[in-house]
Amino acid sequence: MSEVLSETLREEALHAVGAAPDLPALQAVKTRYLGKSGLVTKELGRLGQLPPEERRRRGAELNVLRQAIEAALTEREAVLKREALDARLASEALDVTLPGLPLPAGGLHPTGRVLGDLTGIFERMGYEVVEGPEVEDEQHNFEALNIPWYHPARDLQDTFWLEDGRLLRTHTSNMQIRYMVTHDPPLKMVSRGKVYRYEATDATHEAMFHQLEGLVVGDGISMADLKGTLAEMARGLFGPGARVRFQPSYYPFVEPGADFAVWWDNPRGESKWLELGGCGMVHPSVLRAVDDLREAAGRERVYEGKTGFAFGLGPERIAMLKYGIPDIRYFYANDPRVLGQFRGELG
Ligand code: PHE
Repeated sequence: MSEVLSETLREEALHAVGAAPDLPALQAVKTRYLGKSGLVTKELGRLGQLPPEERRRRGAELNVLRQAIEAALTEREAVLKREALDARLASEALDVTLPGLPLPAGGLHPTGRVLGDLTGIFERMGYEVVEGPEVEDEQHNFEALNIPWYHPARDLQDTFWLEDGRLLRTHTSNMQIRYMVTHDPPLKMVSRGKVYRYEATDATHEAMFHQLEGLVVGDGISMADLKGTLAEMARGLFGPGARVRFQPSYYPFVEPGADFAVWWDNPRGESKWLELGGCGMVHPSVLRAVDDLREAAGRERVYEGKTGFAFGLGPERIAMLKYGIPDIRYFYANDPRVLGQFRGELG
């Protein structure tokens, strides 16, 4: 083993250490020279074959070489570690002065806003707020509401029928029946939810829309109570000056029946009577049908002889006028250009 070789090894090794671009490469250099079968280690292994004199000199020389490589490795490792840390810090740096990303905020749907206003008004008057099934049977949607199968009023509410004979409820009046079967009078409830009509859609008709139904039953409930209640609702919706108008109308489950409208002083200056829905005094046939259902379910007959009123109205109509929405089909087309206008605190 010559001294030239030792010098060459040293030069090569120190160069390789200096050129190692990263820590794994540096580890490879270390293995190549100082590992178990590394070049320097191998030379050290050969010492035993040398004559004693030579061995001491060569041993000292190789030790100096190994220490030099080790020192270079340690130094280079520190440099590379600092570089790696700097790179990581740079890549993870957070510039708190950058403008933030806009967070898309949702908003309440116009129908939900109006339903929320309405239920708030009735809750303050002591009504219970309930919801009911959208898939309904003929009994609750028609029969018990004094609409037998042959009744022409069935044609007024074109129906989506399911294959099993059930249907999508055409109005929330089904909840009048369901509520009275399970609750004893006196009662005050509003029921809200989706209803379905099998009809062509246009600017004022959708196949799915919402209704809010009200029902009050007790002793001596009169038409005056109905009028006072709806006037109170109108004031809650449109302010203290709101007025209500009633016009005779026909619904099989009320007698007398009426349509009601609210005089609305529109801020855009288009004040007019706004037809909101139907109402009337609960028909005795409905109370009898409820008692029949109760009896069949093993409950007491308690409704015959009571009086009550009911009303039903469409929140989309209110929302269209309140927010100036010209077409009911906009409500459920999920167009963000429409719904995006209902963020934050609107009206
Ligand atoms: N259910 C009727 C409709 O959908 C509205 C109504 C409810 C009328 C209660 C009178 C009493 O058209």
